[in-house]
Amino acid sequence: MLDKLQEVLKEFENSVSSVKSLPEMAQFKAEYLGKKGKLKALMSGMRDLSVEEKKTFGAKANEVKQAMELALEKRSQQVELEEINAKLEKNWQDITWTDRIKDKGQQSAGLHPLTQVMRDLEDIFLSMGFDILDGPHIENEYYNFEALNVPANHPARDMQDTFWFTDMKHLLRTQTSNIQIRGMEQKDPPFKFVAPGKVFRCESLDASHEAAFHQFEGMMGGKDISVSHMIHFLRTLLREIFKKEIKVRLRPGYFPFVEPGFELDYECLLCGGKGCSVCKQVGWVEALGCGMVHPTVLKAGGIDAKKWNGFAFGLGVDRLVMMRYHIDDVRHLHHGDLRFSEQFRAY
Ligand code: PHE
Repeated sequence: MLDKLQEVLKEFENSVSSVKSLPEMAQFKAEYLGKKGKLKALMSGMRDLSVEEKKTFGAKANEVKQAMELALEKRSQQVELEEINAKLEKNWQDITWTDRIKDKGQQSAGLHPLTQVMRDLEDIFLSMGFDILDGPHIENEYYNFEALNVPANHPARDMQDTFWFTDMKHLLRTQTSNIQIRGMEQKDPPFKFVAPGKVFRCESLDASHEAAFHQFEGMMGGKDISVSHMIHFLRTLLREIFKKEIKVRLRPGYFPFVEPGFELDYECLLCGGKGCSVCKQVGWVEALGCGMVHPTVLKAGGIDAKKWNGFAFGLGVDRLVMMRYHIDDVRHLHHGDLRFSEQFRAY
């Protein structure tokens, strides 16, 4: 009987590798280990054995059973892998192969120009050692205004037409400057961070105004930081985005959270400075607001204004996109017409 057991094991070992699919595997398993399988059939012959023989045979049969189970498990894994590989082979598609995509009548994908510029901005500042922070679109009065030195009833609140929630405490953030405060709460000086994101203002819409648009905030805090540090980073930003030296001018500008405050303009790239509808015929485009962080704002961020100082800027990203790609109406960026987006495919 022991010989028979060896025979069954041999037969099993010879055929297990030829099982080709998982359903076949289940059948094969039943054939050897199932209730009506070959091993059970042999074991039912144990009745006629002596006690001693029963012991030896039982132990051996157990060993055989375990060996079979192990081999089945191994083969099952192989079969599964083979099936996956076969499927991959059959369904493989090169998604960069445009002709094939076109043949199938499918649209190829690409990044929206806003996304491309946002990513470029992030890369530029990451390479200069800045962190990237994120924050909520639905903001409370404190972070959007109060902590930025704009208390209730301050006339500067009217500079930005705000979408208020009915509780009159929450709003859609009007500027990414809310992250100045949130960032300082998280970080001790010295720090450098940027915060890209959507902002909202209740504006009447035209070629250069949208109710939802994008800003890119930047902030640096440390010792003896000056306006020239700020100008350095802003010129680098513009040079890297446009891949050439860009003419800029700095004008005094009022923002309650900076002192002194500036507006930085750059030469309109749509008309080359001659004047057009986008630059309102002046030849210059307002790029951003910036300045040295007001001590009251540092204090609100938990920072000792006697020891530390810093600069902040808030860049209008949509306008930058328009300049880079020569788009003459900001509304093109948002209305979702595929004929517009398709021009910016990767190929
Ligand atoms: N938050 C200002 C705006 O939206 C821009 C700004 C940011 C100005 C940081 C100064 C410093 O107009």
